[in-house]
Amino acid sequence: MERPRRNRSSSAIRALLAESDLLPRHLIAPLFVKEGEGHEPITSLPGISRFSIDLAVEEARRLFQKGIQAVDLFPVIPLEKKDPQGSEALRKGNLLLRTVDAIRNRVPDMCVMVDVALDPYTSHGHDGLLDAHHRILNDATVERLAEMSVLAAEAGAHVVAPSDMMDGRVKEIRKALDQSNFTDVSILSYAAKYASAFYGPFRDALGSQLQFGDKKSYQLDPANRREALRESLLDQAEGADMLLIKPALPYLDVIAEVKKHTVLPVGAYHVSGEYAMVMAAAQNGWIDGPKALYESLISIRRAGADFIVTYAAEQVMDYVLKSHD
Ligand code: PBG
Repeated sequence: MERPRRNRSSSAIRALLAESDLLPRHLIAPLFVKEGEGHEPITSLPGISRFSIDLAVEEARRLFQKGIQAVDLFPVIPLEKKDPQGSEALRKGNLLLRTVDAIRNRVPDMCVMVDVALDPYTSHGHDGLLDAHHRILNDATVERLAEMSVLAAEAGAHVVAPSDMMDGRVKEIRKALDQSNFTDVSILSYAAKYASAFYGPFRDALGSQLQFGDKKSYQLDPANRREALRESLLDQAEGADMLLIKPALPYLDVIAEVKKHTVLPVGAYHVSGEYAMVMAAAQNGWIDGPKALYESLISIRRAGADFIVTYAAEQVMDYVLKSHD
């Protein structure tokens, strides 16, 4: 009789035979930065705050000491600075650019990534410029994204991460970076980003709720897998250095599929709603939060993700260390 349970008979054997692992080096922590001083907890993302620049630096330093060596930055733009074109995105010395500079100077070994998209800056909350009929102007948007990427590189970003889902943006961003001599700055492309309900708490965090319409003309239909592969292969051909699938848990099949067909590193974004659901249940005492978050992340690794962007980075690493005590 086959007795597979022998391979699960002690904690030591289980550790020896584990097929996937989750280490601090696999994780990227998103950080929300705001103008002014202090920090503001985000109600729909328990445990996560918007930080002033100096506190974001402290947070980055703390994470780095725990082995989390990459952060992905998102700026919270006050309403009065938003407009339909998202002009603030292209202003030298804006909040995001100052944050990049501060972290680079004060936590020099941290890998600094920035999300490149217009939605934190646009009054309507869309990722693109719009015409009079509210249609997305793809190519004009791409030009802006390329300019934003060069500004981020000038401020010291190591990686730019376009999260907009416009066509052709990886190629134009690469061209713009190279022309400005930023040949060493990487592109982490959100290659397959779905039109998802799981971004809700993130939009609360940034105040970037849509004022009309939806994002279905640019983000992917949750019904589709082959389309994600097409987008991923296109981004690879256009010069992306790494690909990202987003959200993560509802799309484990997509992660596995893309991983099979590319030689690039493939990451996953365990998004705000995925984190918030667990935290809400944990706050009610209905679920063990750290355990459920660990299980989420190890499943994403098992599906094939090389790295994970997650709000649970620190919490899960604390849990992993404790369970090995
Ligand atoms: C914006 C962007 C979004 C997220 C990352 N970048 C939201 C959106 O597309 O509406 C979501 C991240 C999360 O939910 O954690 N381009």
